[in-house]
Amino acid sequence: MNIIILDTYKELSIRGAGFFIQTLASNPTAVLGLATGSTPIGVYQQLIEQYQAGQLDFSAVTTFNLDEYIGLHRDHPQSYYSFMQQELFQHINISPDRIHVPSGVEDNFGAHCQWYEDAIIAAGGIDLQILGIGTDGHIAFNEPGTALGSRTHLTDLDQQTIIDNARFFDSADNVPRRAITMGVATIMDAREVILLATGENKAVAIQAAIESPVGSECTASALQNHPNVTFLLDPAAASLLTNQ
Ligand code: GLP
Repeated sequence: MNIIILDTYKELSIRGAGFFIQTLASNPTAVLGLATGSTPIGVYQQLIEQYQAGQLDFSAVTTFNLDEYIGLHRDHPQSYYSFMQQELFQHINISPDRIHVPSGVEDNFGAHCQWYEDAIIAAGGIDLQILGIGTDGHIAFNEPGTALGSRTHLTDLDQQTIIDNARFFDSADNVPRRAITMGVATIMDAREVILLATGENKAVAIQAAIESPVGSECTASALQNHPNVTFLLDPAAASLLTNQ
């Protein structure tokens, strides 16, 4: 487990983008695992800047997003599909047929979850997965109590997550109660993982992820067993770590 502490969000974003730049330099057909939330936006901005400067080519890249709200069509402004379009996809030369975001509107979610897992395998597996972390220690939408062996599945959101994510909606009442998410085991299969966290409100989750025994109460703790994971933190998010 690598832990890198950087003073500013800008530095953290540049360092995070560096992992993508390196991955794409060695493999222009890389499979990227992408995340939503506020934290990775700076990384995406760096990638857009590098693309606009002619330094990056996404034409042969395949992407898989972590999760989506149940009930939101992909055109809904708060869907994670819309988020990815706004924050990254519409600014780069990625081919639309290589973009994968789980669907929040399906007749048969069981089949869709299995299709998502199969599509990741068919693409050759995820080379680099970026993650944020929830204040309750979740990765993707793997809320406390989710089995560490879980695969893509439907889940109920915890009350804390609904409150945390209410800022993107008119009110907490409008936050969907359910989501479709890659499982912990799906994420653990990625060949490389980076997890970004900033701010005091993530300090408890980061301490649990890095220093508590591995367990489903903090699904990010599973990453302790990943062979190639890097935590990119600011000093506030790292403030409760005993071994800094
Ligand atoms: C949501 C997403 C997670 C993300 C988390 C933290 O719950 N499903 O993937 O890590 O939000 O978001 P933020 O980076 O905005 O704190």
